[in-house]
Amino acid sequence: MNAPCPSVTCLTLDDLVARLRASVRSSERRSDKICRDAAASLAPSLQDPTWLPAALMIADPRGYRRELLHEEDDGAFSIGCFVWAPGQATPIHDHRCWGVAGVLVGALREESFVSDLRGVLEKTGPDAILRAGDIGAVEPAPGDAGGLAATALGDIHRVGAATDGVSVSIHVYGTRFAEVCGTRYAAPVVASPPGWRYGARRMSAVAERWRPYF
Ligand SMILES: [Fe+2]
Repeated sequence: MNAPCPSVTCLTLDDLVARLRASVRSSERRSDKICRDAAASLAPSLQDPTWLPAALMIADPRGYRRELLHEEDDGAFSIGCFVWAPGQATPIHDHRCWGVAGVLVGALREESFVSDLRGVLEKTGPDAILRAGDIGAVEPAPGDAGGLAATALGDIHRVGAATDGVSVSIHVYGTRFAEVCGTRYAAPVVASPPGWRYGARRMSAVAERWRPYF
């Protein structure tokens, strides 16, 4: 999804916000199309990491960092910076909104899952590795589309660092930053590699459901 940066002026947060306003707010009300437009707007900002303050590239050994960079007044979208030390990863989770995430520095690993009606998760295939310039997308979970026509089943996933150094990623979500994620799933308890099948318990406690994470 990389796109050439037309000029150095695109490597600022203000220009990223301007591109997103121009594309996301005029996009069709389908989450897959909004993701495509948001990814095209984000791509130029992944060409060079120097626009991001150095203080936002320092990892926290206690856990991956989530830092708000921008939020629209009406909550139409928000932009965040995530910083990952080696070995850090999210819980398995789904989303309340559309979102795109691009790697600015380092690399991330994404594991994707589907859930059956019992809440048992099945891994959908090999891990995806996203390197600098790569962009991934997520769509709202069923019932959480917020008026959008969602085209995927929630994109249950887990994301984590995939290098020995610090990784930094830039995320754009179609809601306020604190309201990005939906359900958190407990860590897999059984792994059966031949079928990519994992056992997991879906967590329903309100405090977990609305806890913000990637
Ligand atoms: Fe996520």
